[in-house]
Amino acid sequence: MQEKINQLVKEAKKEIESIGNLNDLNLLKSKYLGKKSEFNQFMKELKNLPNEEKPKVGQMINKAKNEINDHIQIKKETIEQEKINKQLEQETIDISLPGKSMPVGKKHILTQTIEEIEDIFIGLGYEIKEGPEQEEDKYNFEMLNLPKDHPARDMQDSLYISEDSLLRTHTSPVQVRTLLENADKKPVKIIAPGTVYRKDDDDQTHSHQFKQVEVLVVDRLASLSDLKGTLLIAAQKLFGAEREIRLRPSYFPFTEPSVEVDVSCYQCHGKGCSMCKNTGWIEVLGAGMVNKNVLKACGYDPEEFQGFAIGFGVERIAMLKHGIDDIRQLYTNDLRFNSQF
Ligand code: DAH
Repeated sequence: MQEKINQLVKEAKKEIESIGNLNDLNLLKSKYLGKKSEFNQFMKELKNLPNEEKPKVGQMINKAKNEINDHIQIKKETIEQEKINKQLEQETIDISLPGKSMPVGKKHILTQTIEEIEDIFIGLGYEIKEGPEQEEDKYNFEMLNLPKDHPARDMQDSLYISEDSLLRTHTSPVQVRTLLENADKKPVKIIAPGTVYRKDDDDQTHSHQFKQVEVLVVDRLASLSDLKGTLLIAAQKLFGAEREIRLRPSYFPFTEPSVEVDVSCYQCHGKGCSMCKNTGWIEVLGAGMVNKNVLKACGYDPEEFQGFAIGFGVERIAMLKHGIDDIRQLYTNDLRFNSQF
């Protein structure tokens, strides 16, 4: 019987070697180790052997079955590993292939310009403040030295929501809110960016909605020369280090004196060109010393405090800097335009 068993093991090993898939391997397993296998037959025949031989032959059969089982197990692992290897090979990612390009958005030129102005003033120690776009008449006009019947109200055509409330026509009411909020009447140094609204027909240079950045300093010493120095720094950062500024007398009810600020032409460097209408200067913004009436209305003693204010028109700065000749382009959101900046 030993001879037969050895022969069977040999055959089984040979057959296992030749198998290439798990299905065939399972069939082979039941052929050699299943109920109808020859080994099972041997086991059944054990009872016919003399008693002293039974354990020896029994052990022999078990050993042979274990040996075959081990071989099947090894083969099974080999087949599975090969399958995984093949799959890995097929699923390899070619990292040298160019990827799909995703269009990347960027900030609108007005946002970029506001952030540029913010950066300049943050660098000078200013804080950013915000105010509501629906504003009270009191803050938008009255406390800025523009009482109800003041003719200068006509400078800003307004969109009223009710008798006392309107869409703010400028960011200057944030001056009032900030000063009122400051209960201890401490010095103030803020900028206030935001959207403002006017009852205007849109054309090349007008928009019913636009952006401003308000600047306000109130302190015991905040002189006109401080204002001039601040304006010079801002102009040079925005338009180039060689720029000069010029102040011309102007009028705003909330500042006294008020100035119109020109920057030396960055296109012709003062020689005269179409950009500066042959004057060598370009008008950029309005500013001035905070009117005493405003300080008083907000609870600051004008004998102790003084201040200056600046009003940036963001569209104007962006248009000058980037040679944009129609304000409407800033609001039509044509990607061909927007993506240029
Ligand atoms: N609020 C003014 C406007 O919208 C602009 C302005 C001018 C603001 C002078 C200021 C300033 O702070 O000092 O027309």
